[in-house]
Amino acid sequence: MKNTLLIIFVLFIAAQIIQTPRDNPLSDPQKEIQAPKEVHAVLKKACYDCHSNQVQYPWYANVAPVSWMISRHVDTARQWVNFSVWEDYTQEEKEKKLKEIFRAAYAAMPLSSYMAMHEKANITMEERKLIRDWTGVRK
Ligand code: HEC
Repeated sequence: MKNTLLIIFVLFIAAQIIQTPRDNPLSDPQKEIQAPKEVHAVLKKACYDCHSNQVQYPWYANVAPVSWMISRHVDTARQWVNFSVWEDYTQEEKEKKLKEIFRAAYAAMPLSSYMAMHEKANITMEERKLIRDWTGVRK
C-alpha cells in the first residue's frame, strides 16, 4: 500500500515535466465576433474560456494531468470556432458555424466538466435561447 502511494506520487511529479501550451495567441481585436451586448456577454462568460484567444486559465491548468485535458479542450474548441478570429472566416464558414452554434447552444455546450468548475458558465435556458435566436438559424 505504501509503495503504491509512493509510485502514484512519483508518477504525478514526473507528469509535471510534460507541459502543454496554455496560450492566448495574439489576434486583431477587429476580427472578434460582433454581437449585441447581451449576446456577447453570454458568449464571453460561457464560451470564451475555450473558443477564443482570451482564455482565462485557472491555477489548476498548470497541474498535469488536468493541464493536458484543458489544453486539448481549448485546442479542439478553437478549431471548431474561435470567436476571436471570427472575421477571418469566409461567409460560408460563418454560416456553417452559426448552424453548429445554434445546435450546440441548446444543450451540448459548454462542456459539463467545465460547468461543474465554473458557476458563471451554467447558463439558463433563456440565455441559450438568446444565443440561438441571435444565430438567425431556423430549425
Ligand atoms: C471547456 C471548454 C469549452 C467551453 C466552455 C465551450 N466549448 Fe464548445 N467545444 C469544446 C470542445 C472541446 C469542442 C469539440 C467537441 C468535440 O470534438 O466533440 C467544442 C465544440 C463546439 C462546437 C462544434 C460543434 C459541436 O457541438 O461539437 C460548437 C458550435 C461549440 N463548441 C460552441 C460552443 C458555445 C456556443 C459555447 C458557449 C455556450 C461553448 N462551445 C463552450 C469546448 C468548449
